[in-house]
Amino acid sequence: MKILIFGATGSAGGSVLRACLASPAVAEVRAVVRRPLSLDDPKLRVFVHGDFLDYSKIVDAFAGVDACLFCLGISATQVSGEVEYRRITHDFALAAARALRAGSPEATFHFISGQGSKVESRFMWARVKGETEKDLIAEVAAVCWRPAAIDGVPSRSEPKMFKILRPLFRLLSPFRNLYIRGEDLGRAMLLAARESMRGRILENRDIRDLADRAEGRV
Ligand SMILES: NC(=O)c1ccc[n+]([C@@H]2O[C@H](COP(=O)([O-])OP(=O)(O)OC[C@H]3O[C@@H](n4cnc5c(N)ncnc54)[C@H](OP(=O)(O)O)[C@@H]3O)[C@@H](O)[C@H]2O)c1
Repeated sequence: MKILIFGATGSAGGSVLRACLASPAVAEVRAVVRRPLSLDDPKLRVFVHGDFLDYSKIVDAFAGVDACLFCLGISATQVSGEVEYRRITHDFALAAARALRAGSPEATFHFISGQGSKVESRFMWARVKGETEKDLIAEVAAVCWRPAAIDGVPSRSEPKMFKILRPLFRLLSPFRNLYIRGEDLGRAMLLAARESMRGRILENRDIRDLADRAEGRV
């Protein structure tokens, strides 16, 4: 498979990238990032890009891929308000999904959402993520992933609280609805990509089930 990934410099995306690079089922990984990646690998092609609403300068990145794993995102605590949160969460993802549809019409689009996303939520972040899921499913039959706590690689951009809490996350590992290892999330996404899954919302428990099924298959 040829995989396109967003958010590879992040905690979730960094783990998903590692799962892609480790997988014999993946021949090539293309990462669209705004700053260079510290990783180097013969399977990896990096596209450093500035405007996440307009991909016309990097159409090559979107051509001939099997799936896009969209792991780019931000915490609502790191933005000025709903306008900025919506631009990064919703508008960036929709722009990438449309560019994918143009460059690789058969490819599947996978969006990392989050546990608790809901269109009618009273929480701004959950409402915006819920609306993003709804629009992505309507436009490109996206698969929307709702992980709980992701035990991912440390990242420069993640909220400081996450760095402190990460060791505590592992106490949650026996609870299948509360915890997922970052690389297991990546393997689950790869299995879903391999099976051409479309138009689904996957809760943390579903992701853990898929990751178990992915063992030895991706
Ligand atoms: N971590 C968790 O436990 C968890 C749980 C559930 C859902 N999620 C969701 O997973 C997604 C990723 O979270 P994370 O924990 O991996 O966060 P993270 O470590 O902060 O990574 C965020 C990624 O998004 C990129 N990004 C953020 N704002 C950007 C912008 N304005 N322009 C371009 N790129 C931008 C970052 O790029 P730079 O490196 O260039 O900043 C980085 O690659 C988010 O949507 C989050 O809500 C996370």
